[in-house]
Amino acid sequence: MAKFAVILPAAGRGTRFHDKSYKKAFVPLANKALWLHSAERFLGRGDVVQTILAISPEDRADFNFKFSANVAILGIDVIDGGAERADSIQAALARVKPNVDYICVHDAARPCICDPWIDEIFAAAEKTGAAIFAIPVAGTLKRVGPNRRIVETVSRNELWEAQTPQVFRRDILLDAYAKRDGFSATDDAQLVERIGHPVTVIPGSPINMKITTREDLRLAEQALRALPKPKLGGAMNPFADDDKWR
Ligand code: CTP
Ligand code: MG
Repeated sequence: MAKFAVILPAAGRGTRFHDKSYKKAFVPLANKALWLHSAERFLGRGDVVQTILAISPEDRADFNFKFSANVAILGIDVIDGGAERADSIQAALARVKPNVDYICVHDAARPCICDPWIDEIFAAAEKTGAAIFAIPVAGTLKRVGPNRRIVETVSRNELWEAQTPQVFRRDILLDAYAKRDGFSATDDAQLVERIGHPVTVIPGSPINMKITTREDLRLAEQALRALPKPKLGGAMNPFADDDKWR
């Protein structure tokens, strides 16, 4: 069985989230911290041999106070992220164990993920070396200039919106980041594309939404309920004892 490491970037500032009490990654969603929803779906898997969570150094004291017990029990490596998302991933890559075959990156801000989707994207990465979830753009796209004047309508033909998980053969992702040279990328596939390696898109689900604003949290509560049923039982399955999931 191929071995996977999972990197969960949670070191962002959450500037669009605007909450006085919580940083985005640590806000409660259905009675559980956002990052923990994203992490738990990976932690119970036999093919995941390492989970790395990147947090901001300024959140470390608070994080340890709240979550050190979870982290110790779950065997998560918690590292300091960087100024940009790609800096956080780069810091995590330096900690990936040498026996790992594939590296999966999944935003801590995408809590509505489920087992069949992870199975699907892991299998696609094993087949192609580089696979990401994305959804075809459904709306009409406008480029908007100064004074909110529309500059042009952009054809949505061939346009997809990237999601995570994004999964890569270890050597491909390490090579992409080694050649990053400070390049500012908002996802990992972009850096792999830059080194000329093909990346396959697997159609994702709008349920796998990213939390950006506080309003998204309300939607995410509903989205959690709409997820396909988890197939794993046992202690690692956070939903195992919850009737509403059956
Ligand atoms: N992220 C990170 N390190 C950074 C920036 C982002 O680990 N320096 C993480 C975020 O914590 C999040 C994911 O990357 O889980 C996607 O980023 P985004 O949704 O943009 O979150 P933030 O950058 O925190 O939010 P904002 O852009 O509104 O400040
Ligand atoms: Mg951001």
